[in-house]
Formats: sequence, structure tokens, C-alpha cells
Amino acid sequence: VCRCGIATSAMKQINKVTVIGGGQMGAGIAQVAAAAGDQVTLVDVNDSVLQNSEKTILKSLERVVKKKYAESPEAGSAYIEDIMDRISTNTDVMAASKDVDLVIEAIVENLGVKQELFKKLDGIASSNTIFASNTSSLPIREIAKATNRLDRFGGVHFFNPVPLMKLVEIVKAPETSQATFDTLTKWGKKLGKTTVSCQDTPGFLVNRLLVPYLMEAVRLYERGHGSKEDIDVAMKLGASYPMGPFELADYVGLDTCKFIIDGWSELEPDNPLFKPSPLLNELVAEGKLGRKSGEGFYTYKK
Ligand code: 3HC
Repeated sequence: VCRCGIATSAMKQINKVTVIGGGQMGAGIAQVAAAAGDQVTLVDVNDSVLQNSEKTILKSLERVVKKKYAESPEAGSAYIEDIMDRISTNTDVMAASKDVDLVIEAIVENLGVKQELFKKLDGIASSNTIFASNTSSLPIREIAKATNRLDRFGGVHFFNPVPLMKLVEIVKAPETSQATFDTLTKWGKKLGKTTVSCQDTPGFLVNRLLVPYLMEAVRLYERGHGSKEDIDVAMKLGASYPMGPFELADYVGLDTCKFIIDGWSELEPDNPLFKPSPLLNELVAEGKLGRKSGEGFYTYKK
């Protein structure tokens, strides 16, 4: 029995999942869940977003198949078809979330919007349904507070590109039950990921280290102590990082980087690691959001 008095069930198996948000992360989560055998519904506000999500998934699966089924294109096509068959799309979030084992959101990083979504869903979803957020920087407990199922609410944080990145952070907020945490951990492993256990602290483990590092690279450049290109080459060849910090910031999205650092600097204004960057603010204000908008620290061909 949890603090709220509701009986907590034992660890269960997740087979039916609703993913809310058809962006890069949501599409990736839908893909890896379906590839692991789950029945997946991907939800977003309109059909054109969902069509794009399906295209992203298809493109990613084609890249996977090119390597995995190099000798047998027919088996590759069957593999893709099988996975795509397990993914359906829906623009009606309420209908899609009624009777599933897990609802995971990967929508805009806005606390109010996430709270509103889960508040609505809490009223219609089965009491057995676990809720999870893929937030990169917001406190899980603050989102969960909008519901009456704090014990059945946890963080499941994936990394971009989801199909390739091997890690998932499983976040246990103060009221997350052990059964929920164990169920989410088991699900992460079923998706073929390595899981790490996180407390509900800013940035969990990866982003708490990664985002200050990215910001420090921007500050180094702002001070004129190195070119973007040299800093990127330095970290790739000197530290064996797959991407340099400017390439990675563009890949993650400069709006996302800004959102995270602004939120943390509000929490801890005196922490020099969380200091916002004038250059990053400028780029975001100009709509230069990184790869997705065609320009960030670098320019990209559409
Ligand atoms: N789906 C399937 N396959 C993909 C893919 C995708 N989305 N993206 C790349 N691949 C495949 C390619 O087809 C290629 O396959 P091949 O070896 O058969 O040719 C292989 O992966 C390598 O891709 P590329 O040659 O295009 O490029 P790289 O070798 O540079 O690899 C990368 C790309 C895996 C993205 C690598 O650069 C990398 O690991 N970068 C760092 C990513 C990272 O740090 N992510 C975490 C960001 S933080 C985050 O997400 C948290 C959030 O909260 C902010």
C-alpha cells in the first residue's frame, strides 16, 4: 500500500503501449517498443505530424535492415512490415489511452502542458495503467502531481537517436512504487536497452553531466578561446566522443538545450554550470534550432 492508500500491484508485463508525441523521441520510442513485440499506438495532434512520424520510423527501420538483413532483402521487408503492423496512429489521445499497460509522453517540455495531459488521462485510463514521462529535465514528481496515481508514475528517459542509443534512464520519483519502477526497468530491458536507476533530480544522470559540458563548450567559443570546428575535432579525436559538442547540440536541438539550461538556472541562479549563454539565446531567437531547422551552430542541407 502506497502513502496515498491505494493498493500497489506487483510488477507486471508491459505489452500494450501508447506513446504521446510523434516527434523524434516519440517516433523512436514507438519504433523500439514495436520492434520488441509491443502493440503500440502513437498519438499526436494531427495526421500530418503522424504521417511524418511513420516516415521517420520507416526510414530508420530501412537503415537497420540494410545492415541486419544485407544478405536477405525479403526477410528485411518482412521484418519492417511486422514492426509497422504493430504501430497504429491516433489523434484522439483519450481513446488511445483507455486500456493500455503504459502511457508514455514525449511531448513539448512544458510542465503545465504535461500536467494538463496527464490530469485528463488520469480520469479515463485504467487504474492498472502506468504513466511515464520521457522528460529530459522536468521533475517527474511535479508532472505526476497532476494525477492520483503517483505510485504508478515514473520517468523513462530515452536518448536520441532512440533506435541506436543503448541507454534508458528509469526514474523513481519519491512516490513511485517499487513495483512500477521494476515494471519500467523490465520494459526498458525488453526493448534491448541497458537501464540505469535514477532519482528525481535535475537532468537525472546523463543530462546533468552532458548539458553543462555542452554549455561550457559554447562559453569557450564565446570567449574566443577556440573555433567551433576545433572544439568539435578536439572532443572527437581527443576524447573519442562520436560527435563534438556543437554537432551534438545541433543534433539534440538548440531550443531543447536552452529550455533545459533556463529551467536549471531558475532553480539554481548562482550555479555557474547552469549559466545561460547569450549566443545560444540569440540563435534560438533567430529560429536557428539545429539540424531540425536546417541551421544552428552549423548549416545543414535539408
Ligand atoms: N535509426 C537507425 N539507424 C541509424 C539511425 C537511426 N535513427 N541513425 C544512424 N543510424 C545508423 C546509420 O545507418 C549507420 O549505419 P551503418 O553503420 O550501417 O552505416 C550508423 O548508424 C552510423 O550512422 P552515421 O554513419 O550516419 O553516423 P555516425 O557514425 O556519426 O553515428 C550517431 C551517428 C549514432 C548519432 C553518433 O554520431 C552518436 O552516437 N552521436 C552522439 C549521440 C548522443 O550523444 N545522443 C544523446 C543526446 S542527449 C539526449 O538525447 C537526451 C535528451 O534528453 C536531450
